[in-house]
Amino acid sequence: MLRDQYHREVSYLRVSVTERCNFRCRYCMSEKPFSWVPKENLLSYEELFAFIKISIDNGIRKIRITGGEPTTRENLDDLIRMIHTYDPEVDIGLTTNGFLLPAMAEKLKYAGLKRVNISLDSLEKETLHYIAQKDVLEHVLKGIESAIKAGLSVKINSVILRGINDHEIRTLFDYAKNIGAQIRYIEYMENTHASDGIKGLSSYEILSELSKTHSFFPIVNEKSGPANLYETSHGYRFGTIEPHRHDFCATCDRLRLSAEGDLIGCLYFVGAKNIKEAIRKGNEREATKILVDVVNNKPEKNLWGIENSEVSLRAFYQTGG
Ligand code: GTP
Ligand code: 5AD
Ligand code: SF4
Repeated sequence: MLRDQYHREVSYLRVSVTERCNFRCRYCMSEKPFSWVPKENLLSYEELFAFIKISIDNGIRKIRITGGEPTTRENLDDLIRMIHTYDPEVDIGLTTNGFLLPAMAEKLKYAGLKRVNISLDSLEKETLHYIAQKDVLEHVLKGIESAIKAGLSVKINSVILRGINDHEIRTLFDYAKNIGAQIRYIEYMENTHASDGIKGLSSYEILSELSKTHSFFPIVNEKSGPANLYETSHGYRFGTIEPHRHDFCATCDRLRLSAEGDLIGCLYFVGAKNIKEAIRKGNEREATKILVDVVNNKPEKNLWGIENSEVSLRAFYQTGG
């Protein structure tokens, strides 16, 4: 079991397989980066799997494949199959923008994928086009349908932005409820790669808007990953992800691995250690040491909003959000 110095058990590894993306969401990758990481610098699926295996042997029970946009990397089902074959009990999830899912959902499910979190920030063609800087609504909705049809468990992630999609809080809710998917409203996380002027709504504002038409209560003592859960009087569960809350980090159970092999203890913290050399040399002992080291040095809380702190300039598309 992996436990950090603040007694948090670390059992969840987010693995970014690429920083590249086919969207340019204004809150994440508003412009194409100056240069992409050259392909030879990325860990191959075999190399990623070699580290994942070590992580599982040391107590990781939940793996989430992220990006950039993970479905843009070829043959993603191969990596999922390797993990699933090694330990069928490990919970494998994928976070995606859904655009390429129609042709892939069944294959991914067959390879061992259980759950898929799909970003959907708007149900209006023009609004989503504005946010993602590409006309994507139709494809994303088809992607969601195909994931449900393939038997994957689906969650919807929506980032609510002031003056852009904040009039859609309730329509997004109704859509997710109708398709039987849990919606999570994510507070916009400020970062230097977003478009200027982007502002998010707080979960308090989002819940106030919802409460005008829906009655719901918080589910205490139960969390779903990073989300706080609520249930309506009709039994529908939804969530908010509130990284600005002072106690958000107290239950953090995750590490992140970038596509280049940086093992990161916290999304909003500069520290990371690279596992590439150890893995390429087949040095399992060294890779395990790095894993334990990063867990030991996991910060108590992120450095958000703390003046003069070394808040990471790492882009979310490099860490998988
Ligand atoms: P499940 O709980 O397994 O369904 O997934 P998840 O919510 O962990 O994964 P997902 O990729 O859907 O992430 C949802 C949002 O939570 C993303 O915007 C993440 O950036 C955010 N998030 C997850 N973990 C952290 C964290 O440790 N710190 C911060 N600041 N945000 C996080
Ligand atoms: N703030 C909040 N959420 C973000 N995501 C990406 N960038 C940000 C940000 N700056 C979300 C995506 C996706 C998830 C992995 O993270 O919409 O659902
Ligand atoms: Fe791509 Fe996801 Fe970032 Fe949007 S949020 S640009 S879909 S990586």
